[in-house]
Amino acid sequence: MSKDETGDALEIESICARHEQREGPLLAILHEVQEGHGYISNEAVGRIAHYLNLTRAEVYGVVTFYPDLREEPPRPHMLKVCRAEACQAAGGREVWATAEAMAADPDCQVEVEPVYCLGNCPCGPAVQMDERTLGRFTPEKVSALIAGASGGSSS
Ligand code: FES
Repeated sequence: MSKDETGDALEIESICARHEQREGPLLAILHEVQEGHGYISNEAVGRIAHYLNLTRAEVYGVVTFYPDLREEPPRPHMLKVCRAEACQAAGGREVWATAEAMAADPDCQVEVEPVYCLGNCPCGPAVQMDERTLGRFTPEKVSALIAGASGGSSS
């Protein structure tokens, strides 16, 4: 076991110890592990299962059930695309379809997530890239934005 792995194991044990007296501690433990690491690794699943005397499948089942819990490290950038009505009426469906297709590429450095209103309705379709809200988006603009953030240029 490497020094990092030992540190991770001790940290996860410490998190488990903090929550073990709660009723149903698993979700609180998973959320705290994710807050610290950005995701819940396969190793963390095993350690949590061991500590709580659960099977790996039981812990893994909870991780995969809740959409807010992640099994993979997050990508460096987050793009939120508004899918609410005003933006949909202004062409948001095409912006979403382009963003979603580009995010399917495993080399894409941008996480794409639907949101339902960014408070920028008059300037729809609206998106938010790493906390910066942008308006009047088109498939071409979102393609260039994602390609730029991923280290390339749009095609
Ligand atoms: S509906 Fe898209 S920002 Fe409000």
